[in-house]
Amino acid sequence: MTNAQKWIAITLGVFLLLLVLGRLTEENSNEEEISQMMSQQIEQSSQELDGLTLIKQTGCISCHGAELQGTKMAPALQNLKEYWTRDNLINYLRNPSSFSSDKRFTEYNEKYKNIMMPSYNNIDVKNLGKMVDYLLTK
Ligand code: HEC
Repeated sequence: MTNAQKWIAITLGVFLLLLVLGRLTEENSNEEEISQMMSQQIEQSSQELDGLTLIKQTGCISCHGAELQGTKMAPALQNLKEYWTRDNLINYLRNPSSFSSDKRFTEYNEKYKNIMMPSYNNIDVKNLGKMVDYLLTK
């Protein structure tokens, strides 16, 4: 090998090394960006309200009781998962009267004669979903 060839080989080697190092550090900074984005998202979602808080804020507890245990005005919201799918329960909250022909509801109508379950079709479906997710765990 001549001296010139050696120099070319060395320069090429260094160039390749720098290329590889560059790639590696680039990947690292991508990872940092991603983890930053993820922690931002986590912060955002923890600022959003959870199902139980929404239920309290919406005033469900004023009829169904502070622990949703039922009152003279409205039935307990327990074991709902026995009767409801997530979708049906969301639809119920949006339009309760559409379910009033169900057997259980004829009893409710007798028991809670003067009180109607309000319809909540003005609430964002995403938030209704959160409330329902909570209710279906009880
Ligand atoms: C004004 C009182 C009142 C308020 C406020 C109220 N409810 Fe009701 N709710 C009732 C009554 C009464 C019934 C019984 C069914 C009927 O009479 O329509 C009922 C029934 C229900 C049922 C059906 C129970 C079952 O056994 O399947 C669910 C679920 C429910 N309410 C959830 C809610 C949620 C969630 C909120 C708040 C977003 C809420 N209710 C707010 C009075 C109320």
